[in-house]
Amino acid sequence: MPSRRVFLSSTLAAPAAALCTFSGYAGAGFLEALRTYPGVPEDLAHDEDFWIFAQQAFTMDRSLTNLNNGGVSPSPRIVQEAVKRHLDMANAFPPPHVLWQTAPPLREAIRSRLARAWGVDPEELAITRNSSESLQICQFGLDLKPGDEVLTTTHDYPRMLDTFRQRERREGIRLVMFPLPVPCEDADEIVRLFESRITPRTRAILCCHVVNITGQVLPIAAIARLGRSRGIPVIVDGAHAFAHLDFRLDELDCDYYATSLHKWLFAPIGTGLLYVRRPLIAGLWPLMAAPESKIDDIRKFEEIGTHPAANFLGIAEALTFHEALGSARKEARMRALRNHWISRLETIPGFHLLSPRTPELSCGLGVFRIDGLHSPALVSWLWEKHRILTTGIRHDEFEGVRITPSVYTTLDELDRFAELVAHAARHGIPG
Ligand SMILES: Cc1ncc(COP(=O)(O)O)c(C=O)c1O
Repeated sequence: MPSRRVFLSSTLAAPAAALCTFSGYAGAGFLEALRTYPGVPEDLAHDEDFWIFAQQAFTMDRSLTNLNNGGVSPSPRIVQEAVKRHLDMANAFPPPHVLWQTAPPLREAIRSRLARAWGVDPEELAITRNSSESLQICQFGLDLKPGDEVLTTTHDYPRMLDTFRQRERREGIRLVMFPLPVPCEDADEIVRLFESRITPRTRAILCCHVVNITGQVLPIAAIARLGRSRGIPVIVDGAHAFAHLDFRLDELDCDYYATSLHKWLFAPIGTGLLYVRRPLIAGLWPLMAAPESKIDDIRKFEEIGTHPAANFLGIAEALTFHEALGSARKEARMRALRNHWISRLETIPGFHLLSPRTPELSCGLGVFRIDGLHSPALVSWLWEKHRILTTGIRHDEFEGVRITPSVYTTLDELDRFAELVAHAARHGIPG
């Protein structure tokens, strides 16, 4: 493994080297330098040399500051280039050949790489377009009768709640929801809250791995164990957890896990994943009909008609970048970035953090509010006057501002954001 000095001399030999063209950084040498950079994740999380180097993989316009990476993430340059390459191929050669001959084996290789990285069987992973599609496959694909109950929280994603509400209206099932404490620092309490609402009619549990409006991390392995012990399938909404938290799917041991890859894996926009435990595949209906011969084939969930192969094939480069960056290092950095802006804001009188502080129950997503400061007005002012993009959170139970930096966010950007918030808290938002 190279020492830090060797790393720097081989990659950023002089300050001018930092200004090298981006394409110089996007090649195999760049990825290898990232991968072999020495240091344990907790130390590296604070090593700005490393992160300034890693940031070169992105092409973000630095005249604005994007603190809404939770919505959907920009992709690194190598991913953008791969998508363009595959799209060009589909137009240079006969599209039917590219889409139905060239692409499928590549897609199988990607399935296999994803499965290897997250510790499951490739035959349990479907490549989809996003979390919504993956979740709705599960939500519509389970047979439920009138009176059957689905248990979830009031903090689950609105589209997913609407999906079960539609089944309520159409089929007479019952959606049972409860609020999570904001924040909750006790994993056992979360499990107890689910357990106390299970009834003899409960047929499924839907829960987020990371709640998008609070950053709360849920103890998925324990909830999955609870479901298993009661014979209740657990559908996990992993939109914000996958490739953000350092975990493997086999450690969670859940039944269904759905995620978007265009959030924290930095894959092309319009890519997602669905894990279905192998014995459960046959019993889950696909959203688009598939032949009976495919009943226990995970690919039945990928029957969506003609669609671009380029997006899906670009997942390969995103995975390569993720592996070079290192899953544990990414998680540690995301937590460090969150702690950085919180440390700058928490001295402001009236500051409230709506996200947990316990490391096991939180990571890069953080939500705050400040007494006397109107959150939507703050979000608008930060964007309109200062080109800092944040997310306003408005929920029946609370409101606030969500901050989601990413691995390319600089400490300077966070400091500028924090100084502006402190100014607004002290003097009000300029009219
Ligand atoms: C918790 C959660 N679930 C599901 C989704 C839906 O993701 P997508 O729009 O990628 O399908 C989101 C999107 O932000 C989310 O935050």
